[in-house]
Amino acid sequence: MPVDLNNAQPLAWDSAALDADTKAMLDNLQPNILRAHVREYLTVLFVRFNDVAEGKRFLRHVATKHMKSARKHLEEVRAFAGERRPGTPYVGIGISKAGYRDLGHTVEDVRRFGDKGFRDGMKRRVALVDDPPVEQWENTYQREIHAVILIGDARKGPVERMRDEIVGDLPESARLLGVETGKGMRNPAGDGIEHFGYVDGRSQPLFLADEVAQEPKEHWNPAFPLGNILVADPFSPNPARHFGSYFVFRKLEQNVRAFKEIEQDLADSLGLTGGDRPRAGAMLVGRFKDGTPVTMRATAGGGPVVNDFTFDGDDGAKCPFSGHVRKTNPRSFGRNVLMARRGQTYGERTDEPWDESPPETRPAGDVGLLFMAFNSSLIDQFEFTQQSWANNPNFQVDGTGHDPVIGQGARDIKVTWPKAWGEPAQSEPQPQVAQTVTMRGGEYFFMPSLAYLRNL
Ligand code: HEM
Repeated sequence: MPVDLNNAQPLAWDSAALDADTKAMLDNLQPNILRAHVREYLTVLFVRFNDVAEGKRFLRHVATKHMKSARKHLEEVRAFAGERRPGTPYVGIGISKAGYRDLGHTVEDVRRFGDKGFRDGMKRRVALVDDPPVEQWENTYQREIHAVILIGDARKGPVERMRDEIVGDLPESARLLGVETGKGMRNPAGDGIEHFGYVDGRSQPLFLADEVAQEPKEHWNPAFPLGNILVADPFSPNPARHFGSYFVFRKLEQNVRAFKEIEQDLADSLGLTGGDRPRAGAMLVGRFKDGTPVTMRATAGGGPVVNDFTFDGDDGAKCPFSGHVRKTNPRSFGRNVLMARRGQTYGERTDEPWDESPPETRPAGDVGLLFMAFNSSLIDQFEFTQQSWANNPNFQVDGTGHDPVIGQGARDIKVTWPKAWGEPAQSEPQPQVAQTVTMRGGEYFFMPSLAYLRNL
């Protein structure tokens, strides 16, 4: 039976009744797409080839020697949950449109990729999403990147060894344009956090029956069809069985000091005191630092981080319409827009990101998020989220303002904030909070099937 990308039922990947096409899909899909791969330690390599035969040989070698399939990854996750048997490192490969051309595919060929965003490449999409001009990007990203290689694991050693081996195998004709290093950060509860100190990565579209089964689903259905992230791999031996995913990579620098000052200023301007003060930041993000959705509670609350909620019945008096998680997933609509986020934090910190230390002790740069996400359409998912939701001050309700975390573009309107949680009274209009996240560069890639890579 052909793989049905629109099937609303999550995939029972380990079912004995799985049909041959779906099995072949899982055996040829890269890991980290259907389900997040552990990448507490992460290295990201950006490569440029320059010789068709050598570029192909290198990718084929990495794919054959080091890459596992989605199915192997899922089996490893199960073995770890059961016998605590550690898995093998994750190696993922993405190819840019320039990369496909350098691997010998013609311009005509590359048109078989349906996504115009991908065919343009990120540099030509700057104006659409209000990104900084390319001249302001870091050097690595100003260059023409052909491929990205992700290496991730729970431990540092295996990542470093794999990186050294793969870099050592690069042909003479190729150039290593840049390397990023990601490292997971956790709060005392053990939840993954980002540099502003907030729990991150909790809300994800889920595609697998065993993951969906673990989630309460009274209000929010976390199950999504494969079509949210998978598309047929046009150059694979059998596109009906071999799938890939569009991959967006963006290096987003965070000015933590400025963000922490903004939290304090907003709390002061609203007269928030004591346990109510953290609500200022929660209104910017849509969740408290511990992950509690501000639409559910006026103050942070213990316990596991909730994801079974919607914004129904919240007219902005609890979670403002601008709140990052409300902008990027309004929940009552736009399910087809949701991407599978696979980001990781970068940069060294000497302070504790989750504690209450004063803003002046926080880094003003050199730390941030390596934002990564899988899409079946860069235009309809990543770009739409950034452009039509985050950067749009009138999304859902006129005068809502930009997404305070990732919104880009002139923040030239004034906004109001609820004075008390769930009460209609609004503050005096005040300027929007300043932008504290700056895009430093990025690219669009396609993560092809293993069948494609191994046949190069
Ligand atoms: C969720 C932070 C960039 C889209 C979140 C959450 C945090 C966060 C703290 C809540 C955790 C969760 O619900 O999983 C950040 C920071 C960013 C950043 C600090 C930049 C430095 C982006 C970008 C996009 C994005 C660039 C897309 C254009 C989302 C989405 C969710 C989310 C879709 C899940 C919302 C939901 O399903 O409830 N982010 N984010 N984020 N973010 Fe971001």
